[in-house]
Formats: sequence, C-alpha cells, structure tokens
Amino acid sequence: MSCESVERRAALVAALQEKGAIRSERVAAAVAAVPRHLFAPEASLAAAYADDIVVTKRDPRGAATSSVSAPWLQALMLEQAGIEPGMRCLEIGSGGYNAALMAELAGPDGCVTSIDIDADIVARARRHLAAAGTKRVRVVVGDAEAGVPEDAPFDRIVVTVGAWDVPPAWVAQLTMTGRIVVPLLLHGHTRTAAFDRAGDTLVSRSHELCGFVAMQGLGARPDRVVPLGPDVELRFDDNVPVEADGVRAALRGPRAERWSGITVDPQEPFDGLQLWLATQATSFGQLCSTRTDAARALVDPATPPRTPAVVDGGSLAYHALRRVDPATGRHEFGAYGHGPAAVPLAERMVELIQAWDREHRNGRPPVICVQPAGTPVDRLRPGRVLRKRHTVVTVDWR
Ligand SMILES: C[S@@+](CC[C@H](N)C(=O)[O-])C[C@H]1O[C@@H](n2cnc3c(N)ncnc32)[C@H](O)[C@@H]1O
Repeated sequence: MSCESVERRAALVAALQEKGAIRSERVAAAVAAVPRHLFAPEASLAAAYADDIVVTKRDPRGAATSSVSAPWLQALMLEQAGIEPGMRCLEIGSGGYNAALMAELAGPDGCVTSIDIDADIVARARRHLAAAGTKRVRVVVGDAEAGVPEDAPFDRIVVTVGAWDVPPAWVAQLTMTGRIVVPLLLHGHTRTAAFDRAGDTLVSRSHELCGFVAMQGLGARPDRVVPLGPDVELRFDDNVPVEADGVRAALRGPRAERWSGITVDPQEPFDGLQLWLATQATSFGQLCSTRTDAARALVDPATPPRTPAVVDGGSLAYHALRRVDPATGRHEFGAYGHGPAAVPLAERMVELIQAWDREHRNGRPPVICVQPAGTPVDRLRPGRVLRKRHTVVTVDWR
C-alpha cells in the first residue's frame, strides 16, 4: 500500500473527527484501515479521499443510481449502527467500501452480507473487495425489499439507499435486540435514523439529515412532480390535491411575505426546523429549484435544492430567508405566499416557525417510530402520523 494512500486515510480520519462524523476509536480505526481508493479506481487518489461521493453509475437521464457514498455519511451511519465484534450484518445497497468498513467493525467472528439490485454493481463490489483482500463479505444480487432471508437474522442492518418505507422483511430479519440504520424519507426530507427493535415496532435512538440515491425495485416511490417553470418544480410524496395550473399562474402573480422575528446564524444548521415543517404542515411538499437566473426570477426559497412548501388548491407558500445583519450574516426565517390563499398559508408557516423556536429549537429531537401498517389506532405511538405502504411512521415532538 502506498505511503500516500496511508497518509490520505489518516487525513480523512482527522477531518471526519473534526466534523464530528467519526465519534469513536473503533470507526476511526476502520476508516484508517480500509483503502477507499481501491473501491473507486476511476477517481484520482485526491477524489477518492475527498469527503464527497464518487458516482459509479447513472441512469440514461444522467441521475446517479449508484455511488461510493460520502465518507462523512458512511462514518456517521456506522457510528449510529454501533457494530460490535462478532455481529451478523446486512448492508442494503452495495459498493464494497462500506461493506469492508462493516466487516472491519464486525471482526473475524462477524460477517456481512451486502445486497444490490444492480448486477454490475455487485460484480464491481466483489472485484474491489477481492482486490482489497476483504474477507467475510458476501455480495448478492436482488431486490432488498425481501431482505436476505438465507443469511438472517441480523444484529445490524445498514440501508445505504433512500427508503420511503420499511418493508416487513427488514424488521423480521432483525434479531429481537437488533438495530437498523435507514435513510428514511419523511415528506421528501431524508434522515438517516438508527432504530432499535422493540417487538414489531422500531424506535429511533438518533437521526440526522442526509441525502441518498433513490430506491429502485418494489420499494421505489417516485415523487409526484408538478413543473412550475424553468428549473423549478414542486415534489410530493403523497396524494396532496394541487391545482397545478393555478399554482403556476399564482407564482407569476403578486407575492405575499411574512417574517417570523426568528433569526439564525450562518453556521447554524436548521434541518430540525425543516423536519418540523415537514411533519406538521398539511398539504406538504418540497419546492425544488436551482440557483440559475431563470429559477431565481420565479422563486427565492430558503434552501434552493429542496425547500418546505405548502399548497392549498392553486395557492402556495414556501420557506424563505432574508438577511437581517450584513455584518454577521444573520438571517430571519419567513415565508413567501402566492395565490388566493397566499396570506393565510404564509402566516400559518410563520406560526409553525415560531412554535418550533419556542418549543423545540433547543429541546430534544423528536422520537420517530415505525409500526406495521395494520396497527390499531389506540396502539400507535404518539406523534404526527405519516402513513406508508407497509408501515405507519409517527414523529413525536413532545
Ligand atoms: C449509494 S449506493 C450504495 C453505496 C455503498 N453502500 C457504498 O459502499 O458506498 C446505493 C445502491 O443501492 C442500490 N439499490 C437501489 N435500490 C435497491 C433495491 N431495491 N435493492 C437493492 N439495492 C438497491 C443501487 O443499485 C446502488 O448501488
């Protein structure tokens, strides 16, 4: 192994510790031990050890369908998973590198199965695992909707692809004290959540904002997309009624704005607010836009790739930010509204922002629970209810 790659691994570990993505000695040792560049031979050494994804496959429209995930996210998810020596583990979505890190953590008495729906990715992962000399990883081709029953039960499952739902097989294939880490989509907001199994229920112990390529196969759940203009669209992951032509016309008409008096420092993350909005507002969607001039001429959202939005028929309001202190870069949260219900929608969003600031900004994060879809209402965990195909997800902000 070249000195340069060893040095780059040490630098990557230090950078991930500094960011707080690596929190334990065990994950630090695994990242230091596994040669990431052998799993991304198409990338330069610098790119392989940058804290960024390496895209390994795209669909015909150019969207990434597979990648070696970003090191910060892999480290964070491994910290969430807490893989101990001797554990049986399942990785959903292959690439080789993350499975090799999991094998390092599970040690000589543990094992890892990795499943991918794409035979090319499986072949690639097997090749790179062999080149890196990684043992105790079995890579299989298949749709992860059914898990990998022949290797179950698993102490840990780490899902490395965006999941709108948790298929029953994943819970059934966990040991009774098992843990699953899954990037779960909640109204278009993705959080990597670590869940402990409690009978037929999954109870979150931590969750953080993340992004992943979309699930394919039986678990695929394409968003409903409402194009609004050049580089601007609304996306919904449920059946929100929306008058598309009305919203398109409203966006070209006057804009109402309401401001909350709640401010934020440039360095302060506010994904907790966006999760709050995604789990409180009814008729919720994501306003997706770019930073191009064409998009800017139409909308001015808080976080252009994905910004919380609410609709009511042909009206729309979305989360906005305005700079209130040029010296510090401090911004104020607010909402822009368009259409006949522009004012009430924007005012409702501002009330929600104020409630988040009062009750949750400095409090504990919400507990997310996942229960089977047929669970009687009186047995559901408390919280805001999001109904999925196989499960009911509750988000409890108390
Ligand atoms: C981000 S990549 C995995 C990254 C990888 N774990 C690594 O080492 O960095 C996501 C993978 O999930 C796979 N995938 C998507 N849908 C799937 C499904 N239903 N079952 C199994 N794999 C799936 C894709 O083919 C893709 O290779």
